[in-house]
Amino acid sequence: MSDTDTTEQDQQFEQPDRQRLVVLISGSGSNLQALIDAEAHDELGGEIAAVISNRGDAYGLVRAREAGIPAVVLPHHEYDSREAFDAALVKVIDRHAPDLIVLAGFMRILTPGFVRRYHGRMLNIHPSLLPAYRGLNTHARALADGVSEHGASVHFVSDELDGGPVVVQAAVHVNPDDDEATLAERVLTREHVIYPMTVRWFLQGRLNLTQDGLRLDSHPLPAGGLRLAADDVTEEDL
Ligand code: GAR
Repeated sequence: MSDTDTTEQDQQFEQPDRQRLVVLISGSGSNLQALIDAEAHDELGGEIAAVISNRGDAYGLVRAREAGIPAVVLPHHEYDSREAFDAALVKVIDRHAPDLIVLAGFMRILTPGFVRRYHGRMLNIHPSLLPAYRGLNTHARALADGVSEHGASVHFVSDELDGGPVVVQAAVHVNPDDDEATLAERVLTREHVIYPMTVRWFLQGRLNLTQDGLRLDSHPLPAGGLRLAADDVTEEDL
């Protein structure tokens, strides 16, 4: 047997199971696209096993199908309670045996049972520098307050709406002539950097939510998470 044969055989045996994620969406799916692109470049640390939307008209479904990812619609209005919808969601999710659940613009409040089930393995991205501007209309509220910085946060999901431990935030400057659309767009470009990065850390086993808080490469993360300042160079600029 040649050296080459040995290497190829070893690679076959040593190949660990690929990590799997399920992505939940409700809309455009630009964050989903960032995850799809990262996977295509082998930079996600795993495979998007399925995309689930609570809305049939979500453009993210098109993005998923174009990438050859199973895309499922689960219309929330067909269920008479949040519990019934979440129970149906659990069934679809668990069919794909994911290591990680990724909420990417999924505009549903989740029941405590659902949150408990995926504790420590469900991430969300929120368009503000948490704890500022939890909930909806974050860009309009930031503009109305006249803040000079805004941004986005990736956090683990907890029982508290937009209140789970923050892994990473990216800030952007707010310009005097910004409106909701220009600000949202600037924040989104940062979301597309920090979300695939955080997902990769998790799938590579580098990021953990422990009883003592968040750890990255076994080191505790600062309260409020890591922060990319508005002027920082990011992966995107390199
Ligand atoms: C993103 O800005 C995301 O942070 C936000 O919805 C948008 C989805 O965009 N999520 C929330 O507001 C959750 N509370 P996308 O569909 O293009 O990824």
